Amino acid sequence: MIAVDDLQRPTGPRSDASPSTLHKLVTALEVCPEEGVGLATSLADLGRVVWGNAVVPSDAACVAHLHPPTLVASVVTELSIAAFNQSMDSWDQAPAATEVELHLMGWLAGLMGMSSNATGIMTSGGTASNVLGLTLARSWAAHGLGIDVLKSGLPAESTSWRILCSDQAHFSVQRGAAQLGLGRDAVIAVPSTTAGVMDLGALDRALDELTRSGLRAMALVATAGTTDLGAIDPLEEIGQRARRHNAWFHVDAAVAGAYLLSDTLVHQLSGIGDADSVTVDFHKLWWQPFNASALIVRDHEHFNLLRVKSNYLDRGDELEGMVNLVGRSLDTSRRFDAAKVFASLRAVGRRELGTMLEHLVSLAHYAGTRLSKNPRFEVVTPPTSVMCVFRAPGFDAQGLRAVQQGLLARGEMILGRTEIKGASALKFTFMNPLTTPGDVDRLISLIESEFERIVASS
Ligand SMILES: Cc1ncc(COP(=O)(O)O)c(C=O)c1O
Repeated sequence: MIAVDDLQRPTGPRSDASPSTLHKLVTALEVCPEEGVGLATSLADLGRVVWGNAVVPSDAACVAHLHPPTLVASVVTELSIAAFNQSMDSWDQAPAATEVELHLMGWLAGLMGMSSNATGIMTSGGTASNVLGLTLARSWAAHGLGIDVLKSGLPAESTSWRILCSDQAHFSVQRGAAQLGLGRDAVIAVPSTTAGVMDLGALDRALDELTRSGLRAMALVATAGTTDLGAIDPLEEIGQRARRHNAWFHVDAAVAGAYLLSDTLVHQLSGIGDADSVTVDFHKLWWQPFNASALIVRDHEHFNLLRVKSNYLDRGDELEGMVNLVGRSLDTSRRFDAAKVFASLRAVGRRELGTMLEHLVSLAHYAGTRLSKNPRFEVVTPPTSVMCVFRAPGFDAQGLRAVQQGLLARGEMILGRTEIKGASALKFTFMNPLTTPGDVDRLISLIESEFERIVASS
């Protein structure tokens, strides 16, 4: 209770504690005292030292990252997830829980327009889901050559395999290529338009170039909701090219996968149901606590490319219907994160969730309009999602850094800072559906004052 009280106390997005103060406060607490301090003291210390100095994602001034405030229904369910401690690797550790995860995955695939052949698996995050999608792509490419890559390792042909994504794709695509032994050089970053979507002409040129050079497109990765601009690549067109080139089609919908909840936004995902695999992050615009992501796979048979039998977990001789999800995951023991998603989606309902999301998009539009009317600022590209990326003419990367770091150090605002096509920019990412246009005006004024402070002190 003390820890919960402290959670409610912060008045801004974070305290102004410096890294060295935090280091002293935390390291003053013994990790595992010889005699325990008792639950009340342990929680009180946690409240005072950690929660009292935490970032508060529900604060209107917490606008840097895809870091959401969480639904109460999910937070409450977290307690029962821990208390029942089901482990999702085998049916004999999670019988009803396995059904819940499969039900949730089937529902999500259905929203994308996939058939009952589709299924999925919960993972720890968008990075893990993207890596898993690319792992399946690699196994599938090798399988087409009659090779089991998990058994024999990479075939000689793999040196010619390439993964194509836009230059705005998340870095986890590169990380996947590195982990899979293909190397980051196997990723071809196709130029994007000023709106941040993959340029189809550039994609066609890159594919032609591959063919001419005797290389193979192993996977085409489209992003539905880029990290900075929220841009959605043309999914249908990229999917068609993937089929034509016999490439795996993966969609990273970590961000815009939530558009499936909205009647007015969902059309932007047209073509997503043709993907071989899709990443959806519940711990972004579905307001779930970390960790909660899913990899949806259009044909459940593809999971067989991943399965490694084990004598103690997944023997293959279980009774009819006893599914061991370990064969579909890169993890073994795994949390029952599907429970909090399931319980909270049921509690709140699609209509309300869709409305919350639409409100966030409208806030980004509002911010874009306000900033573009203010001579101090310039909007990089008109917002289409929950982000608004902007610059301040006359201020270089160091100037933007000073503004963002100053606001962060004093605990006044957690503002985003990124680079778009090599040039620094500031970024709002609206995640809290309770934020109002009035809050946005206040944030803009705060940033303006910070710029004035810098000008005055220089
Ligand atoms: C488009 C996109 N894909 C993947 C990820 C990685 O997600 P996670 O942080 O859950 O690993 C992110 C993170 O912001 C993202 O924006």
